[in-house]
Amino acid sequence: MPYQRKTIDPEEIKKQQAICAEIFERVTADGQRPLAMVDTYGCQQNEADSEKLRGYLAEMGYGFTQDEFQADVIVVNTCAVREHAEMRVLGNVGALNHTKKARPGQIIAVCGCMVQQEHMAEKLKRSYPIVDLVFGPHELWRFPELLKRVMLFKKRVFATAKDDGAVAEGIPLRRDGGVKAWLSIMYGCNNFCTYCIVPYVRGRERSRLPEDIVAEARGLIEEGYKDITLLGQNVNSYGKDLASPVDFADLLRAVAELPGDFVVRFMTSHPKDATEKLFQTMAECEKCAHHIHLPVQSGSDRILKAMNRHYDRAAYLEKVKLARRYMPDLVLTTDIIVGFPGETEEDFADTLSLCEEVRFDAMFTFIYSKRVGTPAASMPDPYTRADKQKRFDRLTELANRISGEKHAEYEGKTLRVLVDGETGKEPYNLSSRTNGGRLVHLKGDPALIGQFVDVTVTSSNTWALYGEVNA
Ligand code: SAH
Ligand code: SF4
Ligand code: F3S
Repeated sequence: MPYQRKTIDPEEIKKQQAICAEIFERVTADGQRPLAMVDTYGCQQNEADSEKLRGYLAEMGYGFTQDEFQADVIVVNTCAVREHAEMRVLGNVGALNHTKKARPGQIIAVCGCMVQQEHMAEKLKRSYPIVDLVFGPHELWRFPELLKRVMLFKKRVFATAKDDGAVAEGIPLRRDGGVKAWLSIMYGCNNFCTYCIVPYVRGRERSRLPEDIVAEARGLIEEGYKDITLLGQNVNSYGKDLASPVDFADLLRAVAELPGDFVVRFMTSHPKDATEKLFQTMAECEKCAHHIHLPVQSGSDRILKAMNRHYDRAAYLEKVKLARRYMPDLVLTTDIIVGFPGETEEDFADTLSLCEEVRFDAMFTFIYSKRVGTPAASMPDPYTRADKQKRFDRLTELANRISGEKHAEYEGKTLRVLVDGETGKEPYNLSSRTNGGRLVHLKGDPALIGQFVDVTVTSSNTWALYGEVNA
């Protein structure tokens, strides 16, 4: 029996918006515009959530600032994926002691994945008295109501009950910039990779309805957005919980066939669910970027099994071959974990050889970080941090070499790129992305931002390409 997705009644969101209007009256009564700061950690999903927090805050009358000393409300949207992310959050929340002292009445909220873990919510309750409001990802849709409680009763509010999560439509969104947009198509994860905290904090997989997604995409294109990224922890399982037989490839095609000049891409794909139909759809749809982020995590069958990834090395390599058959120009990127419990030198050598074989365009590499409550946390782990660091350094060196070599292959070629912003540096003052998501620095007129242009690549390094706009 598939999981039945729970939805939030649209009336409930309207009630939240009515609360925004009440807060608006309250916080703008003195004729001043109050300011809010939203500080985001973690993945694009969290960035997308922060756009909703800003949407609500804008309806409450808040303007935005990056300066915590100017902010009347600070929301820290946290990540729990690795210890490092959590330490940064705690350090930065701790530092807000100063701002709260300088600005009595400042409201500090901490939300997101980190606080959905019981021990972290407890820690904030006990050791961070400056924090007024704590809420998990499942409570985001009722942020206005929670904030109002803090404002009215001057009491700390904690809303982090265990939950599988729901789908809420109609939350106001405030996106920054006007070129690239995140578009969440589903939430949660059912995969339970043994190292990963995400399924515990983000709940079960649940898909938005295709008509809601396509309508949002259409609106973005009409507003002038040129680069749309469909987001989910595993977009390839999109639709499995819906009554209609739509799958991710169908959704991608529906978005890619919308009228307008734009590219559509997606993040992230679990290799076990990447299908031939998906590759074919990507190849056929002109507006679909030829880029797949396909996290392999390890090249060792033994480790992949212990990670509960549901594919082996051979199956992964087969998928890559198939995808490249459909798209010879495919840009392929990946994530790799080094030092999973019990990973031996031989296992690690398998990862290195897989990377040599595939030749990823870019690799995001992480040292394994123990997460409370995950199965891997209780697996024996005889290797030291220093052993893991050495492996990590070797992998980074290999990743950089391959990226550099792949980038060099672009030199002299003409590519179509989307100019997405200014670098703030001369002489290459503009940044742009290829269809496959490679970064290209350009010299040119900032009026080009938001436009697709043809460029010739003149030089490159490990991290980026450099080019000239064609006349
Ligand atoms: N849903 C995505 C990944 C989200 S987390 C997917 O499965 O593709 C992003 C990356 O963080 C993962 O791909 C993994 O490489 C890394 N990661 C997750 N948990 C980790 C942990 N406990 N320690 C180190 N890296 C981890
Ligand atoms: Fe984590 Fe695995 Fe889910 Fe990705 S697929 S979010 S790595 S459990
Ligand atoms: Fe972090 Fe949560 Fe994303 S744990 S990586 S912010 S889903």
